[in-house]
Amino acid sequence: MKALPLFHRLDGEPCLVVGGGVVAARKVRWLVLADAEVHVVAPEIGEELAELAARGSLMHHRRRFAAADVTGKRLVVAATDDDEVNASVAAAARAANIPLNVVDNGALSSVIFPSIVDRDPVTVAISTGGESPTLARWLRGRLEELLPASIGAFAAFLGRKRRSLAEAGERPPRAFWEAVVAAGPKRGEAQFEALLADPASKPKGQVAIVGAGPGDPELITLKALHLLLSADLVLYDNLVNRAVLDYARRDAERRYVGKKRAFEGTRQEDINRQMVEAAEAGLNVVRLKGGDPFVFGRGGEEIATLAGRGIPCVVVPGITAALGAASYAGIPLTYRNVALSVRFITGHIARGSEDLDWSHLVAPDQTLVFYMGLYNLERIATALQSSGMPPDMPVALVENATLDTQRVVEGVLSDIAERARAENVSGPTTVVVGEVVRFRSRTEPPAGTS
Ligand SMILES: C[S@@+](CC[C@H](N)C(=O)[O-])C[C@H]1O[C@@H](n2cnc3c(N)ncnc32)[C@H](O)[C@@H]1O
Repeated sequence: MKALPLFHRLDGEPCLVVGGGVVAARKVRWLVLADAEVHVVAPEIGEELAELAARGSLMHHRRRFAAADVTGKRLVVAATDDDEVNASVAAAARAANIPLNVVDNGALSSVIFPSIVDRDPVTVAISTGGESPTLARWLRGRLEELLPASIGAFAAFLGRKRRSLAEAGERPPRAFWEAVVAAGPKRGEAQFEALLADPASKPKGQVAIVGAGPGDPELITLKALHLLLSADLVLYDNLVNRAVLDYARRDAERRYVGKKRAFEGTRQEDINRQMVEAAEAGLNVVRLKGGDPFVFGRGGEEIATLAGRGIPCVVVPGITAALGAASYAGIPLTYRNVALSVRFITGHIARGSEDLDWSHLVAPDQTLVFYMGLYNLERIATALQSSGMPPDMPVALVENATLDTQRVVEGVLSDIAERARAENVSGPTTVVVGEVVRFRSRTEPPAGTS
């Protein structure tokens, strides 16, 4: 380990920052947050420092640095753009044995500022031992995403309760606190109260019905990510990219409950039963569904079941296939003066075309997006033409949308079924019908970071 992370209490402690520019301001900001008594020595200071000085958050000594400035300080920061001044600050701090940071100069520094994720009172410090500040910033970004904003308030709640129980002479066992923490920021308070009232109680778990997006694992929401990180059990569908499961807590159980077209799969009643049983046993369940749970996802049936059993339930939207496919294929779903509305339609027509009112689907200025339409493509194309849609209406098939294997096959209503056969389109496919397909521009898929 190149440097040992230690958290310093600096409240009310005199700290010196030499320099008045933006670099100095970055360090001063942290010192102010730590409630240090901040002294800035610089002939001039920039806007941010001037504001802090006006607010009384720092004392500005308007002059050049003198070695005596370090006397009595707990921390010294050299943050000027003058190497000579920085070297003399370093020499004075070293002579007085005071921890010293020279900005962007690890070799001269005895302490370094880590990249910080601040969820006060929770603080995460990241260091690459000075090797790559860029990597440290990137890591910080990832952790910022992972740690919900509420984690700080949750830590403060735990602290308050721990102190008040101690004052009352109570010392709950470690398992008590583990159960409260495992319930997470949202349900921790209820868990605390329930366990306090009855240590043997097992409060009901909750079920989060979560949209996993159409495929690209980076298309899930931060809320989905946070729920996965605190799930005990993940019940996932066939169309969920397995890479999304990697976001779940390491020891969470991952249970496949998928159904594939024409293949025997888990029945909806079984899925409902598994959700209910797990939640009643106190588990945090994430029911992970492809795309959005409320778009051809049977999410409605699942929330009704949970509500009927009094199980707390949240629904987190996901990017539905139509939106993912359109974006990654470069097809705008609406277009000024060309397509004024979009309709999402199921192409899963069990017994003949009488299920859909085709004449209502044929209207000017709109885009049709069929889900589950590949296997009935011939029938869909024929029915639309019979109902008056021109045979040369453009159609795009987006197969495996948003994944590396995405393919787009273009055609018109009269030949699209033949083209699908010729190209052997067989993966999950979204069918876009409308003039907007002519406005397709080949876009690059958004660059990934994972
Ligand atoms: C049962 S529906 C589920 C839809 C899902 N709830 C949503 O919001 O995207 C399954 C259909 O969604 C479409 N679909 C799902 N993922 C897709 C993908 N990656 N590429 C293209 N189409 C997809 C296909 O039409 C597939 O037959």
